[in-house]
Amino acid sequence: MPLHKVVYLSNNTKLYLWKITEDFDTLFSQVKLKDSSLARLETMKSESHQKGFLAVRMLLQHNDYSDFDLFYDEFGKPHLKPQGCSIKDVEVSISHSNDFSAIAISDSKVGLDLEQLKEKTLRIAPRFMNVSHLENLSEEEKIKKATVVWGIKESIFKIKNEKGISFPNHIFEDDFSFDDKKATATLKLNDNPEVSGEKFQIQFDSVEDYIFVCAFQSINN
Ligand SMILES: CC(C)(COP(=O)(O)OP(=O)(O)OC[C@H]1O[C@@H](n2cnc3c(N)ncnc32)[C@H](O)[C@@H]1OP(=O)(O)O)[C@@H](O)C(=O)NCCC(=O)NCCS
Repeated sequence: MPLHKVVYLSNNTKLYLWKITEDFDTLFSQVKLKDSSLARLETMKSESHQKGFLAVRMLLQHNDYSDFDLFYDEFGKPHLKPQGCSIKDVEVSISHSNDFSAIAISDSKVGLDLEQLKEKTLRIAPRFMNVSHLENLSEEEKIKKATVVWGIKESIFKIKNEKGISFPNHIFEDDFSFDDKKATATLKLNDNPEVSGEKFQIQFDSVEDYIFVCAFQSINN
């Protein structure tokens, strides 16, 4: 299937979702890859991971970028070269999970995470979130909310790209309602009560049985 959905998250940020229904050969024949990406593709153990990787390149090509414009820093964070003669910085964040690949492209820092809904996320919720935020919800609602919180933490991590960030000890979600499709969270790396931490705005939504979460740095940090 071609592009599944484009979500306009703000004036300057778009999220693109690819639903992977093609087989490996179909995707492989449609993307142009640089040698380092071909080598990386060969090291991937599962075909599902390979297809997720190729679908990301399909999304780049849909936006007039290609694998040749994408590079990674030493921690694995992706970056895009500006298009043509533009001097504007472009930010990108990437996520893939089984049937879907997604990229967010923005002119401000953005972090994206895509997660399939699973009971396991709720089982491990006490390890990464404030479980009082799950009170008075049905099991199904708890799974959804815990998945959003996991996505909040992954997407903030992807913006910051710093070693040593602990999901339970450093990233704090404020309580939110799933129906609002937005939330706020704070990154606080320091125990000093006088340091207020860095605020993030979050947008999220469901697509089939997946949740995507996008984090943005608050402008009034
Ligand atoms: C790197 C990490 C964010 C990837 O997330 P994931 O859910 O496993 O996988 P996703 O599909 O959502 O994201 C993978 C993409 O993230 C991007 N990525 C990898 N490292 C990154 C980094 N340091 N910063 C930003 N983006 C990164 C890459 O684009 C990668 O895809 P690609 O290599 O195919 O281009 C994750 O593995 C991680 O290290 N998380 C933090 C660790 C942690 O603290 N975990 C649990 C604490 S309780």
